[in-house]
Order: sequence, then C-alpha cells, then structure tokens
Amino acid sequence: MESEGKMTVRLMLAVSVAVIGSLQFGYNTGVINAPQEIIESFYNETWIQRYNEEIPRATLTSLWSISVAIFSVGGMIGSFSVGLFVNRFGRRNSMLFANVLAFIAAIFMGFSKMASSFEMLIIGRLIVGLYCGLTTGFVPMYVGEVAPTSLRGALGTLHQLGVVVGILIAQIFGLNQILGNESLWPFLLSCIFIPAVIQCIALPFCPESPRFLLINRNEEDKAKSVLKKLRGTTDVSSDLQEMKEESRQMMREKKVTILELFRSPLYRQPILIAIILQLSQQLSGINAVFYYSTGIFQKAQVEQPVYATIGAGIVNTAFTVVSLFVVERAGRRTLHLIGLAGMAGCAVLMTIALVLLDTVHGMSYLSIVAIFGFVAFFEIGPGPIPWFIVAELFSQGPRPAAIAVAGLSNWTSNFIVGMGFQYVEELCGAYVFIIFIILLIIFFVFTYFKVPETRGRTFDEIASEFRHGDNQADKQPEELHLGPAEDSTV
Ligand SMILES: *[C@@H]1O[C@H](CO)[C@@H](O)[C@H](O)[C@H]1NC(C)=O
Repeated sequence: MESEGKMTVRLMLAVSVAVIGSLQFGYNTGVINAPQEIIESFYNETWIQRYNEEIPRATLTSLWSISVAIFSVGGMIGSFSVGLFVNRFGRRNSMLFANVLAFIAAIFMGFSKMASSFEMLIIGRLIVGLYCGLTTGFVPMYVGEVAPTSLRGALGTLHQLGVVVGILIAQIFGLNQILGNESLWPFLLSCIFIPAVIQCIALPFCPESPRFLLINRNEEDKAKSVLKKLRGTTDVSSDLQEMKEESRQMMREKKVTILELFRSPLYRQPILIAIILQLSQQLSGINAVFYYSTGIFQKAQVEQPVYATIGAGIVNTAFTVVSLFVVERAGRRTLHLIGLAGMAGCAVLMTIALVLLDTVHGMSYLSIVAIFGFVAFFEIGPGPIPWFIVAELFSQGPRPAAIAVAGLSNWTSNFIVGMGFQYVEELCGAYVFIIFIILLIIFFVFTYFKVPETRGRTFDEIASEFRHGDNQADKQPEELHLGPAEDSTV
C-alpha cells in the first residue's frame, strides 16, 4: 500500500537544505579542472621561492595528481564512516556536524596561496574529500527517510541532479573572468564555506528523520509530530505502520557483515558483480574528463577549452535529467550495455581526433563531439546503474555491507583514475583513451555474460538464479519490457 504523499513546505525545505550536500560533492569534483594551469604555476613559483630552482616537470605532475586524487582518499574514508554517525547522532545532526570539515577544508585551501604552501591545498582536498564521502552517504539516506513513499523515487533523484549541477557550477566559476584566475583561485576552492554556512543556519529548522526517531531512538511521539509536520496532515498512522513493518523485516533478516559477504557462496557472485559494476563506472574514464577535460581539450587544440568543459557539464546535466526518466522504466542491464558501448565508441572518436589532429582539419571539433557523447552515454548507463543494481541485488540484511563495499570500490577506482591519468597520458600521448576503450570492452563483455536483469524481479528470483549457477542473462535479449515492477525495494 502506498501512502498518499504530497509536497509540503516543510518537506521541500528539508530536501532542499539536504541537497546542498550533493551540490558540494559535485562542486569539489569539478572545481580543480579549469584552474589546473594557474594552480600549477603557483606550485612552480612556490618551488622557486623555496629551492631557488624551477619545479621539475615530473614533480609537478606528481603534486598535481596528488592534489586531484587525494580527494578520493578522503571520500573513501568518509563513505566508510557514514554508519558511525547516522545511527548515533541522527541523520540531520550528522549532516550538520559534517560542515565543520567543509570549514576546515576551506581554510586550508583558501589560505594556501597566502602561506605559499601547496601542502595546505593538498590537506584541504583530503578533508573536503572526507566531507564529501560522508555527505554522499547522509543526503540520500535523509531524503529517502523524510519523503513519503510515493515521492521517494522522485526526490531521491534530486541528489544525483545536485551533484551534476554542482559540477556545472564549478566549471562556470572556474572561468578566467570569474574565479579561475591568478588572484581569485583560492576563493574558487574555498567558497564552499558559503553553502556550508547556509546549511548550518537552515538545518536546525529541518526535522530529524522520523525513521531514525522511531527505529533507532524508539521515540514514537516525536516521530509522530515530525511526520505530521512533514506530511501536513494529522493522520500519519499509515506512515508509522510502514516504518514499523520495515523495521520488523529488518529484525527478521540478520545483518550480514562484510566478511560474511565474501565468505558465503550465496553472496559471492552478487558482490563480485557489484564491485565490477562500480569499477566499470570509474574506470570508464569519466573522471579523467571531469578532472582533466580542460587539459584534454587544450591538447586537442580547442580554441576555448574552458567553454568546451562547461559544454560537457551542460550535456552531463541534461542527460542526467534524461536518465531520470529512463532508468525507472528500462532494464538496468540494457541501459548499462548501451552506455558502455556508446562510451567506447566515443573514446574511439576521441582517439581518432587526437591522432589526426595535425593532419586533418576540424579534428578539434570531433574531439568536442566525442567528449560530449562520452559524458551523455555515461549518464545513461554507467553513471546511475551501478548504484541501482547494488541496492537491487541485496535484500535488507546484506545491503548495508554491500553498499559499503561498493562505495569503497568506487572511491578506490576514482583515486586510481585521478592519480594515474596524467602519467598515462604523458606515456601514451594521443593513444591514452585506448586504455579506456579496452576497459570498456571488458566491462561490456562482463555485463553481457554475468549481470542479470534486476528490474521488476524479487530478491528471491535473482538469488535463485545465482544459486543455480545458470545465468540466463545472455538469453534474454529483450529487457525493455514495461510491465509493472514487482519489487518494492527502490
Ligand atoms: C616554472 O617557472 C619558470 C619561471 O617563471 C618557467 O620558466 C618554467 O617554465 C616553469 N616550469 C614549469 C614546469 O611550468
């Protein structure tokens, strides 16, 4: 049974304030892209000041790669620590406390130039990564728990939208005329304190998650009064009923630890699939684009590389909206395959553009088309699908452990791309995207043979498929069925 959900002012406030966290994650992912050259020359100047010699090229590459990628180390630790906070302090207060990290990070990054210290910038990136790892756990949880069932899907997608809009804002602020210049770049990195202040002021006016109050704290009266305000009605018995039922279900199913997840033959194959799908998201090369696209466009001799980067951000946002409408209706497996194939195709175009750059006219335009297509296909498949599938492969008991493992794999591979891309690019030159083509093909083959369709199927059906070791996935070419979804898990 679905409770009648309507949008109330309280609910809108709670969700909007929470989604500031998603914006922060997107912003910090996209922000180091455009000002790379300017900050690199700051590293160089600092080096000259200290050691009376210009910075060796290799040292600069290392320092910059660390500055980019250490964000994911923070993210890894943060995403793994979400559980420590949400059940102890509550969802809302966890979001509130996390802002301390945003302030500290802003101070480190904002004053790094004044202090002539690239170490401060790197520490700031680590701390802001920690903040983002926590936030990407807090926000979807809070939004999912304050939203009524009928609006949960729609409001849940606001997190994803917040992330891509955050990336876009960072790309626009990174313009030379705005903040991406020699004097203002410290503010470009540290202006994250402004949304943090807004969130700190507004969060106390937002309610704690009623689910936390009822289930973790056993405070039914408080949960009731919060629900009444959120729903705008006095009768909230159906909401309460639903939460109690959910918690009963959770009690019935024993919580599975991460170790058990890998030991039990029951979970071995689904967790392998969950991990590889996360790898397919990050090792597809998407963050090579979000971290380094301005540099890539520069090498492709695009005249206004920063505008091309902003274009990629706009395509990214547009296709996230498209995928919001498609993902619920189409088969996950089909979309993932389409996305991977499309990305591989665009990576081929990108390679052609880079190789023929000096001999054929117009190749810089081809490179723009290729990157835009790359981003669009990402948002159709490998962007959203891995998270969807993790939630659908596992029932309540093993799900938290599975999500933790998936998050760890995601941030780890994010780190590998952020750290390694520049080195590999120096090594391979125009052929750098061939590595992603090979990886994309491997992930395509894996998905084709090993990943079952999860849409509209129950955990039991999926689990029995794994038990029989008889993966039917490759025998069902037609997954775009539009029948009613039987699972009520998303
Ligand atoms: C560092 O700065 C010096 C002096 O401005 C410049 O000649 C050199 O090319 C720069 N080195 C790098 C690696 O950017």
